[in-house]
Amino acid sequence: MHPRPDDNRIKIAPSILSADLSRLAEQVREVEAAGADRIHFDVMDGRFVPNITFGPVLAKWLRPATPLPIEAHLMIASPDDFLDAFAEAGADTLIVHVEGATHLNRTIQRIKALGLKAGVALNPATPAVMLEEILPDLDLVLAMTVNPGFGGQSFLPGTLKKIRAIRRMIDEVRPDCELEVDGGIDAETAPQVVEAGARVLVAGSSIYGAADGPAAGMDRLARSLGL
Ligand code: DX5
Ligand code: ZN
Repeated sequence: MHPRPDDNRIKIAPSILSADLSRLAEQVREVEAAGADRIHFDVMDGRFVPNITFGPVLAKWLRPATPLPIEAHLMIASPDDFLDAFAEAGADTLIVHVEGATHLNRTIQRIKALGLKAGVALNPATPAVMLEEILPDLDLVLAMTVNPGFGGQSFLPGTLKKIRAIRRMIDEVRPDCELEVDGGIDAETAPQVVEAGARVLVAGSSIYGAADGPAAGMDRLARSLGL
């Protein structure tokens, strides 16, 4: 089910943060049919970020609704306390913020011991160099292209330079590690982040907020990338 890590194809990860959660299964099937590669699941606790969303209970309901991998983006203050719960709920990848993890190495080792893929996210103001020691252990780096907490924010163009820096680090140290971006990704910004080196694009409002529906939103993204 997982794509090969060395697969250089551009992948799209719709974020259900912007979906109609009253019909979650249907909304997920729509992006699945339109070629989504994985489902991005934004967990917020009202402490690490100024918003609250959902947690392991909803992940458990999502799990049987799709064969696609589920990646949980943990925007929470104490990620260590919830790793096991997300594993039990059926998540495939857990992404923790470098800014929210005190013992990041231990957290990453725990995610791997649970048999899951491990990712680290960086806020826009956090420099790429924060990855230096942990990168050899990672399956994924998530560069935030907005400040986390809400869907529908504008892409921060200043993050492009960091995406390039992370791409260089990954190519040098751990070429199998995926480079994902999250926030304000639409048909205009997608080509810019891909040019900078991103290979996995999270998109919420440009897919689920599309007036003509999520499949049309996915199609616009794909066409902007010549896919
Ligand atoms: C923001 C979340 C994102 C969000 C992106 O804190 O991490 O995943 O869903 O939404 P858009 O694509 O609307 O910026
Ligand atoms: Zn996210």
